[in-house]
Amino acid sequence: MSELERGLLAGLVGGLYLLFCLWCHYRHRRATARASGDGDILVAYASQTGNAIKLAQQSARALNGRARLMPLNQVDSRLLSQMRQALFVASTCGDGDAPDNAAVFTRRVLDGKAAKLPHLRFAVLALGDSQYPDFCAFGQRLHTQLAALDAQALAGPLLVDSARPAAANQALAGWREQLQQWWGQAPVEASELPEASTSHWVLQARSHLNPGSPGEPLFYLRLSAATPQACSWQPGDIAEVTPPGCDIARHYSIASLPEDGSLDLVIRRQRDAAGRPGLASGWLTRELACGAGITLRISDNPLFRPPATDIPLILIGNGSGIAGLRAQLRWRELHGGGRNWLLFGERDPASDHPFAGELDHWLESGHLDRIDLAFSRCPERACYVQDILRERSTALAAWLADGAVIMVCGSRQGMARGVHDTLVDVLGRPALEALIQQDRYRRDVY
Ligand SMILES: Cc1cc2nc3c(=O)[nH]c(=O)nc-3n(C[C@H](O)[C@H](O)[C@H](O)COP(=O)(O)OP(=O)(O)OC[C@H]3O[C@@H](n4cnc5c(N)ncnc54)[C@H](O)[C@@H]3O)c2cc1C
Ligand SMILES: Cc1cc2nc3c(=O)[nH]c(=O)nc-3n(C[C@H](O)[C@H](O)[C@H](O)COP(=O)(O)O)c2cc1C
Repeated sequence: MSELERGLLAGLVGGLYLLFCLWCHYRHRRATARASGDGDILVAYASQTGNAIKLAQQSARALNGRARLMPLNQVDSRLLSQMRQALFVASTCGDGDAPDNAAVFTRRVLDGKAAKLPHLRFAVLALGDSQYPDFCAFGQRLHTQLAALDAQALAGPLLVDSARPAAANQALAGWREQLQQWWGQAPVEASELPEASTSHWVLQARSHLNPGSPGEPLFYLRLSAATPQACSWQPGDIAEVTPPGCDIARHYSIASLPEDGSLDLVIRRQRDAAGRPGLASGWLTRELACGAGITLRISDNPLFRPPATDIPLILIGNGSGIAGLRAQLRWRELHGGGRNWLLFGERDPASDHPFAGELDHWLESGHLDRIDLAFSRCPERACYVQDILRERSTALAAWLADGAVIMVCGSRQGMARGVHDTLVDVLGRPALEALIQQDRYRRDVY
């Protein structure tokens, strides 16, 4: 290639990248405008599984048309410099972390060098669970850092503890009273911490998905509804199981759709160093007998829904994360396909192939455009799903240029963190943050 051709190629790549950035910027501005409304009180939420969204919506309604409701990631320094009053409804996820739809705000405003905000009066409603060591850590951090920017706190952060529902609802009643006191509007709607609905099921079948694996055993469970009333859920939703003798529920991604006629789960049996099985995963994979009943709460997961079928979808996950990804693929199969690409990581190529028959069938039928598998214990080539993602960066860029959404499901520390870091490396942080702000990067990780 001549010097001139190299120069032209570099110019072309640079030009395309610039166009991509401009497009991201335009989409972001459009999304901001759509989310904003024109009220004079900002109501911003940070939510991983939707509770904070519902409470923020209730607060916004209580303000009778004065609210501008939006996810925290849509709030930037410019907007904060214009607003005089703001409410933040912020949950905590992971290990004291910000939810994904607050991550960009956190990096740019809280961790960056934001301008002082002495004109801003604010209050924080912090959602959390006192069973976690970092109780309401993100909401409290948000409060502290806004105060450090000289914003005026209307009150201390109000903590809502989902482990203590009565106290949580009392805190929410206090929040309503405060709204009334500050803005004189009488909120008609009583807000409560959203409660998942309870339903009864029977274990129909359980099968071991990975005999011979060097990893912990993985099981497929098929449950049928014990009562005739229709149970409804959407792809991405979570089944909460409380095993006998246990206070708090464990969450499991639902791997099927109501149209399948069963509620399917994929459970990894956990084990501690002494070999004792985890409370819920041990009970579900060993003790619960076929034919026995089980009570579930099915909770909404509105931020992990599939995109419309005309939008390409890149699904990334590992291990039991196949559950949440499978529900997305089933939904897209049922609603007219779309382009789908699965990148999936497990341990051993000889034994770890959950749903291999179904995935092969989807590849043959064209429902899956491509599958890339990574095996961390492969004797010939040990690698992780993020390594494969890096190798496929050209295809990734092409799919994203076509408007693809990325959905990630599985382990937070091992897989999701590696995938996130790889996306930062491959796409660059601004492009990844643009994807987050455009709701094109959705995660259900644990
Ligand atoms: C949104 C979400 C979706 C999820 N989806 C899935 C899914 O689809 N499939 C799936 O398999 N999991 C999923 N999980 C994880 C699941 O909720 C549980 O965390 C997991 O099954 C472990 O629960 P357990 O009761 O079996 O283990 P626990 O009893 O809670 O124990 C957890 C770990 O600590 C160890 N441990 C327990 N007691 C002790 C002790 N005294 N000393 C030392 N170590 C100990 C256990 O052996 C285990 O390794 C999801 C989690 C979330 C948040
Ligand atoms: C995987 C997971 C991790 C969580 N981590 C924390 C935490 O570190 N601190 C905390 O106070 N609450 C934690 N919670 C509890 C949530 O903050 C609480 O359930 C909240 O109501 C969720 O709100 P959201 O639906 O808006 O995300 C966690 C919940 C889950 C499912």
